[in-house]
Amino acid sequence: MKISQKKPSYGLADLESVLLSETQISNRVSELAKEILSHYGDKDITIICVLSGALVFTSDLIRKLKLPTRLDCLRSDSYGSSTKPDDPPRISSPLKTDIENRHVLLVDDILDTGNTLSELIKHLSQSKPASLRTCVLLDKKERRQVKIQADHVGFNVPDAFVVGYGLDFAERYRSLPCIGVLKPEFQKASYFQCGC
Ligand code: IMP
Ligand code: MG
Repeated sequence: MKISQKKPSYGLADLESVLLSETQISNRVSELAKEILSHYGDKDITIICVLSGALVFTSDLIRKLKLPTRLDCLRSDSYGSSTKPDDPPRISSPLKTDIENRHVLLVDDILDTGNTLSELIKHLSQSKPASLRTCVLLDKKERRQVKIQADHVGFNVPDAFVVGYGLDFAERYRSLPCIGVLKPEFQKASYFQCGC
């Protein structure tokens, strides 16, 4: 029996469907770690996590990488409290580490239109890293506006607004262990403004 909800619960009940289970994600993150390891060998790499969406993914990935890594973060804001990106993305929070002559792996949650990743690549390239590669957990190829491909991709996903495992809608749902499609009735910013 389908239980109708009028208000979001901020949990699994707000999902229309689960696209990727916790186990599927965990297995794929282990595979990605192996792919990355085989590319870099024993090089010292600097991982740059794009906050806040890639926080959960990055924390799992770095613990599965058996590599000497440095970790830094950048913040990029493109969606605010809507499910449509306004361009261009805003890059804030300067890096704490110097990446000149360093091997940099930029980690983001999802490659959607491509605006964010391409801006971040331009931004980081100015600091002259020895190499700059990209890793995204999800790739929504259908929505691409900029010609860009990530070097390491976890999963290809269809054109739907997804939440969980770090991905949010209006800062909610990041702590869900799986990734799913948010029910359309809960894709309303007004639900999330009062904090109740
Ligand atoms: P892009 O600039 O359009 O490629 O969007 C990249 C950023 O938008 C990602 O880093 C996410 O933070 C956010 N984003 C894109 N699609 C989704 C989604 O389906 N759910 C949640 N966030 C998304
Ligand atoms: Mg993001």
